[in-house]
Amino acid sequence: MVANVMNNSEGTGAARVDSLTFRAAMKKVATPVTIIATGTGNLRHGITASAVCSLSDQPPMILACVNLNSTILPHIRANRCFSANFLDEDQSALAQHFAGMTKVYGPERFNLGNWGHLATGSPVLENSLTVFDCRLECEYDSPTHAVLVGRVEAILQERASRALVYAGGQFSFPAPISL
Ligand SMILES: Cc1cc2nc3c(=O)[nH]c(=O)nc-3n(C[C@H](O)[C@H](O)[C@H](O)COP(=O)(O)O)c2cc1C
Repeated sequence: MVANVMNNSEGTGAARVDSLTFRAAMKKVATPVTIIATGTGNLRHGITASAVCSLSDQPPMILACVNLNSTILPHIRANRCFSANFLDEDQSALAQHFAGMTKVYGPERFNLGNWGHLATGSPVLENSLTVFDCRLECEYDSPTHAVLVGRVEAILQERASRALVYAGGQFSFPAPISL
């Protein structure tokens, strides 16, 4: 038996899933935690983003969803490149910092962490889980977010560590699987 089923229509096309219900359901889903970054020097910008995933391996491409009101978006569009820095279990402070929780904005956010660069010139976070340095291939806009398609130009994998994830409204990391 299936309990608590919620439909999104009654056969009439009428939407029944409100945003609070959606958010409560989505809050249960574990997502990766990344810092999306672009620019150089005093023109660097970065945000914490969990809506980032693989798109294809031939060619190597990823998706990243960035709010249309985010300060980084015009810079990604102008630079035509960005990095996706997947964080590990020791980097929740960086995730909070780049989510604006420390009230630090713009290039000053990069005062935390060791940042270098690879192929595109976008900032890449040393000692993170894994980094994808991307050219902006194309973009699809939803009403609230830009869905960015990044073609991966370089990858940095330095540490054998566990992924930082976001689930239940807090940062966590997956337990090891013993088979
Ligand atoms: C766990 C977590 C995940 C987030 N994921 C995204 C995301 O996928 N896309 C996005 O645009 N913002 C996301 N945000 C919100 C941005 O990090 C936040 O709005 C940031 O402060 C925007 O930077 P700005 O103030 O410089 O525009 C996320 C925040 C948190 C805490």
